[in-house]
Order: sequence, then structure tokens, then C-alpha cells
Amino acid sequence: MDVYDSLELLAQEDASLLRLAGEAAEKAYAPYSRFRVGAAGKMKDGSVVTGSNQENASFPAGLCAERVLLASASSLFPGMSIETIAISSLDADGHSHDHPISPCGICRQSLLEFQQRVKRPVRLILGGLRGKIYLIPDASFLLPLAFTGSDLM
Ligand code: THU
Repeated sequence: MDVYDSLELLAQEDASLLRLAGEAAEKAYAPYSRFRVGAAGKMKDGSVVTGSNQENASFPAGLCAERVLLASASSLFPGMSIETIAISSLDADGHSHDHPISPCGICRQSLLEFQQRVKRPVRLILGGLRGKIYLIPDASFLLPLAFTGSDLM
């Protein structure tokens, strides 16, 4: 994992994707947690797909931004790999967090299966518009000893 001290130090393309993740977070539906998360993914063909968390009064029915993005990407561009996903978040006052947030366990599982399916690693950029940024070259690094479809064979 590479750590950058600020958004300005990222490659321009990565900084743009992270800014898009911040904009996606503004579209979240998170009236219960008031914790808004946005994800922006650059597809292999250069298209950008975004997602934001979508909550529900029945809390477990809510979806994280990352899985909304993966479902959109898979629906709009079936079988296409995602080169990079940037993830950013806003606090209850609408301010960008000044530290990276990391995908939850269920999203790690979904990211892993997605990249195994398309046979290409997904690179992750985690961070707010302020503060440190983490660059992770392969989402599988977040889920060692994973349970996968091959275990069901
Ligand atoms: N959430 C995400 O969307 N992505 C993450 O990586 C962590 C958590 C959402 C789920 C819920 O709507 C809110 O943030 C608080 O957990």
C-alpha cells in the first residue's frame, strides 16, 4: 500500500476519480447514520461508474456505496473489469473526512468476487478530500484467506 499526504500529490487521473467519489457521496441516502459514502470506478474502457450508500429503515436492507457501484458496473458493463475504485466519505455536516475509510467486510467479499470474475485486480484509492490517501493495488489484499466460489466446488 502507498500512502500519500494529500490529494494534490496524486496523479491527476487518480485525484479526479477521488473528487468524483466525493461528489457521489453527496448523492447518498443516509438519513439514519448520516455517514455518506461515495465510490467512483474507472472501467477498462474509460467509462466512470459511481455509487453511494443507500440506507433503509430496516437497517440490514441498506447498501454500501461500494456494492452499489459494483452492481451498477456489472449491470451496465457485464464482464468488464474495473481498473480503479476511489472511495470517499462525508461527515454529518457534509464535510469531507480528513482520513481514509476502508471498505467493510461484506464489500471486501464482493470486491474480491468481482475481480476474480473479470480476472483483473481492482485498484483502490481511499481518502477524503483532505488528509492522507491510501493506494491499494489489489482489493484482494484486504481479504486474506478469503472464502470463495472455489470452496463450494
Ligand atoms: N458504508 C459504506 O457505504 N461504505 C463503507 O465502506 C463503510 C460503510 C455505509 C453503510 C452505512 O450506510 C453507513 O456507511 C454507516 O455504516
